[in-house]
Amino acid sequence: MALDRMDSLKRTHYCANLSTEDIGKEVVVCGWTQRQRDLGGLIFIDLRDRTGIIQLAFDDNTDKEIFEKAFTVRSEFVLMAQGKVRRRSSVNKDIPTGEIEIEVTTLKILGKAETPPFDISDDTKANEELRLKYRYLDLRRSKLQKNIMTRHRIAKLTRDYFDENGFLEIETPTLIKSTPEGARDYLVPSRIHHGSFYALPQSPQLYKQLLMLSGFDRYVQLARCYRDEDLRADRQPEFTQIDVEMSFVTMEDIFEVAEGYMKRLFGEILGVELTLPLKRLKFNDAMEQYGSDKPDIRFDMNLIDLSDTVKDCGFSVFADTVKNGGTVRAICAKGGASVYTRKEIDKLTEEAKGMGAKGLAFIRYAEETPTCAFSKFLSEDEFKAILDKTGCVQGDVVFIIADKKRLALSVLGNLRLTVAKRLDIIPNTFAPLWITEFPFFEYNEDTGNWDAMHHPFTSPLDECIPYLESEPDKVYAKAYDLVMNGIELSSGSIRITDPELQTQMFKALGLSEEEAHEKFGFLTDAFRFGAPPHGGLAIGLDRICMLLTDSDSLRDVVAFPKVSNSSELMSGAPAAVDETQLRDLAISVINKE
Ligand code: AMO
Ligand code: AMP
Repeated sequence: MALDRMDSLKRTHYCANLSTEDIGKEVVVCGWTQRQRDLGGLIFIDLRDRTGIIQLAFDDNTDKEIFEKAFTVRSEFVLMAQGKVRRRSSVNKDIPTGEIEIEVTTLKILGKAETPPFDISDDTKANEELRLKYRYLDLRRSKLQKNIMTRHRIAKLTRDYFDENGFLEIETPTLIKSTPEGARDYLVPSRIHHGSFYALPQSPQLYKQLLMLSGFDRYVQLARCYRDEDLRADRQPEFTQIDVEMSFVTMEDIFEVAEGYMKRLFGEILGVELTLPLKRLKFNDAMEQYGSDKPDIRFDMNLIDLSDTVKDCGFSVFADTVKNGGTVRAICAKGGASVYTRKEIDKLTEEAKGMGAKGLAFIRYAEETPTCAFSKFLSEDEFKAILDKTGCVQGDVVFIIADKKRLALSVLGNLRLTVAKRLDIIPNTFAPLWITEFPFFEYNEDTGNWDAMHHPFTSPLDECIPYLESEPDKVYAKAYDLVMNGIELSSGSIRITDPELQTQMFKALGLSEEEAHEKFGFLTDAFRFGAPPHGGLAIGLDRICMLLTDSDSLRDVVAFPKVSNSSELMSGAPAAVDETQLRDLAISVINKE
């Protein structure tokens, strides 16, 4: 069977753009065969393109040669069909074109297909590894087609919004100098300068700041970023930022632009009305209330501080922790007693221990009297005080962690999410908020240094400058994150533009003057030639797409994603290269995999 040519026939419609209004019209459609059904004297073909499906019908009236051709069609054959739109005898309510079909008069087979390695449908049972190996087939599924099309609309809306607000899109280089920015760099060896390397940018941070110095005033870029770090569902080694920088602004101006963008985005893409201004929560309050700097505030179950309540109680695990400067915190799972049986609590305890907790104490108030292993060490009043403070009544379960503050908060913050998912109490809404007043420094227990929590160009709050060197833990930054449903969507800050303050900052971060100059000299030198006050943020485009398409993983919104070991299963990247290529680069591989 030879392939047909398209000749002069031209597509007139996308499959699912046809409707009952087109009945009687002569049309030409193109696409892939979702399935072919042979009912004896009748053949139906579901033809699929990026808009959806239309049914092609072949019956007694069909030319014999065409009927026989339709008979040979198999799944995923590429077809072109001409015919008249007519009303279907039996309506298919599951698809938008279910009331119509095309009575085919010309059929061309433009491409044949072998049997695909998996069933190409939204409810395919194929595992993700197989689907990613044949990603071009996986991408034919309507869920992924819709996601990729939504991503296009989001990118277009983004460019329109920022253009309308006076921003210029300016490209910055992707072969740059390696500058420490948090994650590990991807390096590109230079052929001309043996032993020297470019880095792929983790973000355009320094360049966008330099563009402010050049006077471009409002910059935006849909920028590709590269970070060699461990992957998670919301992390890819290459991803896209909506990167923004503005001059002569305060934090409030940046919030206004970002909020306007979010409102437009949710309004136009989902028809969801976001209420502005968005909520704000200081970093410390977020940690205290939710045990996370990216809290999911769609549900309550806030963390409760029991330290005062239990500091003198008879249970030594609690009392001693408080005496030694630690803390005792709890969450109360309302109505959780029926789900949280002993076995389920054991599972949760293992999860807590996996995150570094020494144990997980609990009160399970299922029956008339609560079950609690440590109550025997407490007086009746002490026990009642815990119930009162946590608001625990019959039907509830309380989980308690005694530990150093940082650990207790973060473990309970994670358990709060696990429990909420298990109890299925998270409403299907969008709950955005700003997290503000981040600590500037983060103590690195491994190195004993104070690292920058955001990046070293972030401005400290004015009132904190005196503590820069003496008490780094008291320094807060003009930095902010935009968080939604437990996901960090965006991060940004007001930058330092005073060369003296920048030098002080590097010093506080343990960088010597020479080191700072070698790494960031081109930026700090630039600040000596007239730097406008500026600040900005970067919004994770992939994460936005994930939220707006209700996907569980970035892999569902990236056309050709990488898997957790950073390889791309379809092409097999990364891969070995020729010896000659390595020789050109003066590279020899000492330890092959
Ligand atoms: P940050 O490193 O916080 O800030 O990145 C900004 C946003 O980019 C997204 N993001 C990612 N998305 C997918 N995969 C990843 N591996 C990944 N890493 C980050 C997140 C994050 O909020 N230059 C600063 C911004 C600034 O200060 O203007 C920066 O890059 O949504
Ligand atoms: P133990 O005295 O270690 O047998 O612990 C008694 C109970 O307290 C057990 O249910 C432990 O899971 C719990 N527990 C122990 N250490 C902690 C802790 N740091 N925080 C919360 N509960 C704990």
